[in-house]
Order: sequence, then structure tokens, then C-alpha cells
Amino acid sequence: MNHQTERIYLYPVWIRIWHMINALLCLTLIATGLSIQFSNPDTVIKFKTAVSVHNIAGIIMTISYTCFFVGNLFTANGAYYVIPVKGYFLRMKKQFYYYTIGLFKKEKAPFPVTEENKFNPLQQSTYVVLMYALVPFVVLSGWGLLYPEVTVKSFVGFSGLDLTDLFHIFAGFTISIIMCVHIYFCTIGKSPWSNFKSMLNGFHESH
Ligand code: HEM
Repeated sequence: MNHQTERIYLYPVWIRIWHMINALLCLTLIATGLSIQFSNPDTVIKFKTAVSVHNIAGIIMTISYTCFFVGNLFTANGAYYVIPVKGYFLRMKKQFYYYTIGLFKKEKAPFPVTEENKFNPLQQSTYVVLMYALVPFVVLSGWGLLYPEVTVKSFVGFSGLDLTDLFHIFAGFTISIIMCVHIYFCTIGKSPWSNFKSMLNGFHESH
């Protein structure tokens, strides 16, 4: 058996730059978003400052997300986000078993990282939902709140603005939770740090 470390180049420069900016923006948006949500005069970030920083970070996030979307549309990276339909549930089951049981029994990963398969099935589905549903949704609802005059006035008896606000907060909280889980799963690599290093130098390390 070969115990040498294998290095595969998986994260192109543009993905690394996008990801770094995106992570910093998300942390800023979460800190200011929570501060707006639970505002009181004594919070760490002043309400007015939190609103301004949140709005500016949201605008930069829109640009950054557009870069990700266009990048994935026109480069080979987009192919990693296409989920093969055949055998979907069986693959998810195998990966779920690995994360809950197999991993702790030191079994081999059912979907080792290769150039063709950068993401395992659970990771792929999470990234697709995150990047093609939740993030665009939080961005669009954010714009709806920034320009309330363009937001639908009422929807089946509810205020359009209240609904937009509710959806924005729901998506924001969901993204925050996924981000925590994402960071935890990133520690399951060759070493607890190796996946974080990959996002800096572009190379994935495996056994
Ligand atoms: C401090 C916060 C974060 C850290 C430390 C972090 C860390 C990482 C690491 C180490 C990877 C490479 C391993 C892998 O593919 O799983 C990665 C990939 C990725 N992360 Fe994060 N992440 C953070 C925040 C976020 C946020 C907020 C999002 C989205 C809203 C995100 C979306 C992604 C995506 C889509 C990939 C795969 C990119 C690709 O190769 O196409 N991450 N992250």
C-alpha cells in the first residue's frame, strides 16, 4: 500500500480569492446581522454602524457572488456542481454512513477526492443548495429590503416587506449554521489543517 501523500491541484486561484473574500464578507454580515437583530443601545456594534456595514458588505457580496456564478458558468469548476441523478440516494447513504460510523471505525472514504470528483456526494449537494439557492436568495431578499419601494406590497394578506424580512433572516441563519458545519467538516482531512491549507495553496492532500 502506498502511504505517500498525494497532492492534486483542485482549487484554482480565482476560487481561492473568491472564497477568501466570501468568507470574510459572511463573517462581517453575520456579526452585523446579529447585531441588528438583537439590537440594544449597549451592543458591541452600534446599530447605525451595523446597518451601514451590513449594507455595504451585502453590495460587495452581490458582486462577489456574481463573479462566482460567472466563473462556474465559464470554467471547468462548474462541472463539480452538476449532480448526477442516477444512484443519488445510494451515494448519499454511503457518505452518510461514512460520516456517522465508518470514519470513526477508520474505514476508507467511499468517495475519495480525485480530479474528477472534488466533492463527496453530501458535500456536493450542500454546496449546490448553498451557492445556487441560499446565497442568491439572501442576496435578492437583501436588495428587496434595501429598496422597499420595489418590494411587493402584500402577498396573500401578509405585508410583502415582512415576508421578505422573514425569508432574509431564515436564509441568513441557515447559511450561518451551514458555515459552522462546513468548517467542522473541513477539519476531517489528512490532518485537521490540511483542507484549510488547500484553500491557500490550491492543492488537496490525501493519503
Ligand atoms: C471562515 C469561514 C470559512 C472557512 C474557514 C472555509 C473553509 C473552506 C475550505 C478549507 C474549503 C476547501 C475544502 C472543501 O472543498 O470542502 C472550502 C471550500 C468551499 N467553501 Fe468554505 N469556508 C468558509 C466559509 C464559507 C462560506 C461562508 C461559504 C458560502 C456561503 C463557503 C463555501 C464554500 C464552497 C462553495 C467551497 C467549494 C469551492 C470550490 O472548490 O468550488 N465557505 N471552504
